[in-house]
Amino acid sequence: MLSPHGRVVMISGASRGIGRAIAERLLASGFTVSAGVRQPGAFAIPGVDPARLLVHRYDAKDRAAAPAWVAATAERFGRIDGLVNAAGINTMTKVIDEDEGPLDEIWEVNVKGPLRVIRAALPHLEASGTGRVINVSSLSGKRVRNPNNGYAMTKFALVALTHSVRQLGWDKGVRATAVCPSFVSTDMSGPSPKIPRDQMTQPEDLAVLVETLLQLPNTAQIAELLVNCRLEDML
Ligand SMILES: NC(=O)c1ccc[n+]([C@@H]2O[C@H](COP(=O)([O-])OP(=O)(O)OC[C@H]3O[C@@H](n4cnc5c(N)ncnc54)[C@H](OP(=O)(O)O)[C@@H]3O)[C@@H](O)[C@H]2O)c1
Repeated sequence: MLSPHGRVVMISGASRGIGRAIAERLLASGFTVSAGVRQPGAFAIPGVDPARLLVHRYDAKDRAAAPAWVAATAERFGRIDGLVNAAGINTMTKVIDEDEGPLDEIWEVNVKGPLRVIRAALPHLEASGTGRVINVSSLSGKRVRNPNNGYAMTKFALVALTHSVRQLGWDKGVRATAVCPSFVSTDMSGPSPKIPRDQMTQPEDLAVLVETLLQLPNTAQIAELLVNCRLEDML
């Protein structure tokens, strides 16, 4: 297993939900974290050694934000070993919707945002020799079982992006994983009529899985990690 000490991990969507739980878990276990958030002034994790935390602006809708966040992380810590793309939205976009504005927005946040951060971070991840990219996709990126077509399209695309990164970075030690949960108890899942919150996956448990993914050596790798909170037909 790779030691967390001295390893620098960027996390988007670190303000809330899954990204926040991952940031807290990684900091507690000794990683150095670069938290990408839309409002850096509003972000705080009490009791953290400031030498192991950078809080930087990242808004997926701002094309310049990704390279700026990567550059600031590399300048502050001198290396980047991991990237967790957790920022995302789930605006309802149906096949029959004439207005493509919401589709463009969800595509930009859920797909082009991660793509831009990966593109900027890749040279640093390759230089690490054990670079890791973890894309928080969804079981909606593996099967379709609700009308939110736009969300599913973006999550399938994020799985495809993960596999592209695996192909591209493998020879330089970069490994990529798509994490695909079902319902996770966060603001995004909200009060669901389908499943009570205490029967959803907890973000803290996903954070343990992500921590493990970040510590596995180059020779023990997981391309897709499907996480169920309930029985499904196939996955
Ligand atoms: N919750 C679930 O059931 C579930 C299941 C499967 C997959 N996922 C995926 O897990 C990831 C995290 O979701 P979550 O459940 O933690 O959701 P959440 O609690 O709603 O948090 C969403 C995060 O994304 C950030 N974000 C939203 N728009 C952004 C933008 N334009 N630029 C940068 N950051 C932005 C938010 O920042 P602000 O605080 O600034 O809004 C927040 O940190 C998402 O990709 C989601 O699709 C969630």
